[in-house]
Amino acid sequence: MDVNDMGTDLTKVLVTQEEIQAKIEEIAAEIDREYEGKDLLLVGVLKGAVMVMADLARALHSPVKMDWMAVSSYGSGTQSSGVVRILKDLDTDIAGKHVLVVEDIIDSGLTLSWLLSNLSSRGPASLRVATLLRKPEAAKVDIDVQHVGFDIPNEFVVGYGLDYAERYRNLPFIGTLAEHVYA
Ligand code: XMP
Ligand code: MG
Repeated sequence: MDVNDMGTDLTKVLVTQEEIQAKIEEIAAEIDREYEGKDLLLVGVLKGAVMVMADLARALHSPVKMDWMAVSSYGSGTQSSGVVRILKDLDTDIAGKHVLVVEDIIDSGLTLSWLLSNLSSRGPASLRVATLLRKPEAAKVDIDVQHVGFDIPNEFVVGYGLDYAERYRNLPFIGTLAEHVYA
């Protein structure tokens, strides 16, 4: 799919496919360095982080394990509720393991902040975060994030795993959703 298939749903391409892939290569190189000689478990947050996880994992040179969690915080709207539910928990015990949470986007930060305190209570050896996107202007909580792909404006974005009501996830780039789509 590309932007020409989108009609007027998208106002613009915010981050191109090439920019995403180059940034993921950079982040992967940082992660390779940081976890050299250690066992690393990547924890992807479903469903939005599927694309980041798939591309990041393949850009790494070190062998890693992958597990997934699904949490809900939004329903089908565009505003974080702050109320988080686990829809699918990890399959593995993370006690004593080096865990890197892989996220698509940090918006208010409420979901991630909840997730980090949940995961840290399980006693990992380390717990860090890599996210492709972050919206600094939307932050409601301060979170220490080690790897950030792009800081973006406070607009609703879709593509590369990110959805609006389950649509647009398979776009290979990040686009800004037109207001008429969700207004
Ligand atoms: P918070 O606000 O808790 O949001 O940091 C976390 C989750 O909400 C989703 N999210 C978005 N999804 N476009 C999307 O398609 C956006 O602009 C957006 N902002 C937040 C996403 O699943 C994220 O993990
Ligand atoms: Mg989502």
